[in-house]
Amino acid sequence: MNELIAKLRKEYLNSSLDIRDILKNPIEQFDKWFKEAINAQIEEPNAMALATVNKEGQVSVRIVLLKDYSNEGFEFFTNYNSNKGKDIEFNNNIGLNFFWGILQRQVRIQGYAYKLSEEESEKYFNSRPLGSRISAIISPQSQKNTK
Ligand SMILES: Cc1cc2nc3c(=O)[nH]c(=O)nc-3n(C[C@H](O)[C@H](O)[C@H](O)COP(=O)(O)O)c2cc1C
Repeated sequence: MNELIAKLRKEYLNSSLDIRDILKNPIEQFDKWFKEAINAQIEEPNAMALATVNKEGQVSVRIVLLKDYSNEGFEFFTNYNSNKGKDIEFNNNIGLNFFWGILQRQVRIQGYAYKLSEEESEKYFNSRPLGSRISAIISPQSQKNTK
């Protein structure tokens, strides 16, 4: 076994989960835990792994940022022409995973992705700093930079 990995053994003693403490509405439960993640000063608590599947059935996972959540679902923004955008266009089954290490906690979400309205997309785009807007336009995601 890789020695560096063998030394990483950790006892998960801090937290336990009692089903009786879980709220009936999973979004309310998420809201409670998300606030705990913010209070714990976790770096980028809104970073989540997003899993998609392509036409060949190949699964891909990458990090995206959660931008909002409600009983309607979880919002993130991406380029429709990126690999993940194309995957979702073909098959909108997705998985999300938040990992909040110091809380010894993960949240797993399975569901379907839908496009937000054009107004919502534009509102988000216009809220981004100028540099990010320019870079989103001139450097398409998931493509190699060629000179
Ligand atoms: C901390 C972090 C946050 C990120 N947030 C986003 C995001 O909100 N939206 C996005 O499209 N890509 C985001 N990315 C980049 C993606 O992880 C990914 O590299 C990129 O979107 C291309 O993915 P794809 O080729 O699978 O489509 C983020 C990366 C990191 C490390």
